[in-house]
Amino acid sequence: MNNVYNFNAGPAALPKEVLLRAQKELINFDDTGMSIMEMSHRSDTYDQVHSKAITQLTSMLGLSDEFHVLFLQGGASLQFSMVPMNFMKQQANYVLTGSWSEKAEKEAVRYGQTSIGASSKHSGYRSIPEPQAILYSPEDSYMHLTSNNTLFGTQWTTFPTPDIPLICDMSSDIFSREIDYNQFDLIYAGAQKNLGPSGVTVVLIKDSLLQEANKNVPSMLSYQTFAHSRSLYNTPPVFSIYMLGLVLDWTEQQGGLNKIEEQNRLKSAILYDAIDRSDGFYKGHADQNSRSQMNITFTLKTKELTELFLQEAKEAGFVGLAGHRSVGGLRASIYNAVPLESCEALAAFMKLFNKNHLANKSGLK
Ligand SMILES: Cc1ncc(COP(=O)(O)O)c(C=O)c1O
Repeated sequence: MNNVYNFNAGPAALPKEVLLRAQKELINFDDTGMSIMEMSHRSDTYDQVHSKAITQLTSMLGLSDEFHVLFLQGGASLQFSMVPMNFMKQQANYVLTGSWSEKAEKEAVRYGQTSIGASSKHSGYRSIPEPQAILYSPEDSYMHLTSNNTLFGTQWTTFPTPDIPLICDMSSDIFSREIDYNQFDLIYAGAQKNLGPSGVTVVLIKDSLLQEANKNVPSMLSYQTFAHSRSLYNTPPVFSIYMLGLVLDWTEQQGGLNKIEEQNRLKSAILYDAIDRSDGFYKGHADQNSRSQMNITFTLKTKELTELFLQEAKEAGFVGLAGHRSVGGLRASIYNAVPLESCEALAAFMKLFNKNHLANKSGLK
């Protein structure tokens, strides 16, 4: 067993139970005498894995039967292009809450005009806009937003309800909480945070939107291709989909989304508390009412102190705490598989580091 506290942002911690089960099933899957990676994606054995993952995703998220569940490749980044390729008529609306929404908008301008419904860029992406304040036009083909901003550590709690299709990049918080997933027309998420290893991107799309899709896009970039073939048009990423199924089993064993959300609230509260009780030694990046339950971003007074924190944290067994290279500072990513004990250990380490370095002038207020 490894003995590090894994706070990586993605690929990220997977449940130990899932890794052990995958190890057990690796050589001889379901008494077939081979691994799941070595058999045809058209075989009955694989088909059961594939279908079960689709059924489980649908039931656990409470999706209505209007939804198609698709397994794609190319990461969430390919969705930045596929969304406008398939749905942009003349113009579309983008809400900017961080680097990932900026990247999505940048791809969309290749296919038409974009308008920015709201942006928190001016305040260093510390906040989430008020849903009622978002400006959009009925001519916009859709509105795009990012539910959790992995780099800046902010997260939507209440979503806008526009009368145009609502599309959401949920890469870093899908399956982390109980929300009404049916309020969106399309949700996409790279699996490598809450759903499994990298290699598969989950797309949930309402049939009404699917019918609107541009038929003139290459087959492999068309949502219709994947919807009409149950994502078996070509060879799917079988191992990633199998692992996703194991992660869903584990999520169900934890008590489902309700229990997972409860646990995530507890975990994030422990770390935000350590920040808020440090008398300014640590400073949270996000505004209080926009704080993410998944990525806890914070800073220390100086670059030297930040480096010292990372070095001492590493020696104490904490991994993945450096902020994203474009933002700096510190970040603890606490996706579903990160245990409560890891958060408690990090909070204790933060208190100790604070105590030990309070005398360090650069750490004082
Ligand atoms: C919110 C969000 N969107 C998109 C991406 C890009 O995902 P991928 O690397 O799967 O293309 C990430 C990656 O961390 C992300 O956090």
